[in-house]
Amino acid sequence: MLAICPFCRARQDVPDPAPAGGVTCASCHRRFAARRVAQVPAEEAPAWLRIERPHGVFDRPAVVARQIAVATAAASVPEPVPEPRDAAAPPVLAEPDAAEERAAAAALSAIRRQIAAAPEPAPRPATAQAVPAARRIGVMLSKGGVGKTTTAVNLAAALAMAGRRTLLVDADTQGQAAYALGVSPKVGLAELVEGIASPDEALFPAREGLWLLAGGKALAGLKRLITRKDFGGERTLADALAPLDARCDVVVVDCAPGWDALSVNVLFYVTEVLVPVALEAMSLQGFSEFLQSFAAVSRYRPELTLSHIVPTFLDKRVRGPAALCDELATLYPERICPPIRYNVKLSEAPAEGRTIFEYAPRSPGARDYAALARHVAG
Ligand SMILES: Nc1ncnc2c1ncn2[C@@H]1O[C@H](COP(=O)(O)OP(=O)(O)OP(=O)(O)O)[C@@H](O)[C@H]1O
Ligand SMILES: [Mg+2]
Repeated sequence: MLAICPFCRARQDVPDPAPAGGVTCASCHRRFAARRVAQVPAEEAPAWLRIERPHGVFDRPAVVARQIAVATAAASVPEPVPEPRDAAAPPVLAEPDAAEERAAAAALSAIRRQIAAAPEPAPRPATAQAVPAARRIGVMLSKGGVGKTTTAVNLAAALAMAGRRTLLVDADTQGQAAYALGVSPKVGLAELVEGIASPDEALFPAREGLWLLAGGKALAGLKRLITRKDFGGERTLADALAPLDARCDVVVVDCAPGWDALSVNVLFYVTEVLVPVALEAMSLQGFSEFLQSFAAVSRYRPELTLSHIVPTFLDKRVRGPAALCDELATLYPERICPPIRYNVKLSEAPAEGRTIFEYAPRSPGARDYAALARHVAG
């Protein structure tokens, strides 16, 4: 039968009946349980619940069944009897399985232990020298695909729209910030740090009030340069970017997944760290690992704060993510930010080279990122 992964929404064939232990998503490799739900034929589903895609028309079975019950009750017509579908039936929405919930619980315990072992020091009174002129926010988490680039690009765009002179720094060899903004700068962060390009050449005006220091493959050379330094390599980025403070109010750094010399450099440059946490076990586990690395670096940079935790991929139709979102809010009442809901418009916008505010300004994604930007700016 066909199933939709509750995490990445990939449609795929799963055995029917699904194994008791759940199945592994062919796309994102997370585990989920698939169960067949009673459905009504697509032709009986109200038209407004059909999803039209270039490759066909799909209904949303679980929602259709519920909506039909409500609609038919209101119209006082006999309720259609839902019938099980055959193998060619449209996909069913799935729920995280018990193993996923156990893994999430274990990851949350690890985070609790981290908080207990390394409580963050009380904020120190800022001195004129310690506080940079511009706010420097690193969007980081070593786990991949949690929404770092989506968050960095749309947060930077929202801050620029709010009148802040904003610099978006792409510290990822994937260089996807330029793609998401629909621009193709010839030089970027690597060339600026290596002294090949001046700030005027390297800062690409991407939008009104928003400049981009592009990432990309050239950053591989920069990493080699950093690791070859005898001493002070961890401050390479900070030394090169500090003069840009005079040009902007906020710097947002989009970091790469994983942990390497450039990640450490970013932590020696920024003063605030914003962590997007996808609401599933693997991401929470990555977050608990990241907390250890963060604690190790912050011993050398007491001004560094884990200032914002942003739950991403919130899907209220699935029980697990909403519960994890509440858990995170309990663990970090001061740092938790408004969550970003799963919204397909957010995944479509980069292909158009537009921010969510340009591509779908009335979408839930645009509303969520506007709320996040207000929270961060405020
Ligand atoms: N809230 C959301 N709803 C739906 N899709 C999303 C959402 N946030 C991000 N995406 C999509 O999920 C994918 C991964 O997001 P993104 O590239 O921002 O993650 P990342 O953490 O930067 O990944 P990487 O670690 O590889 O740099 C992208 O295709 C993006 O469009
Ligand atoms: Mg990214």
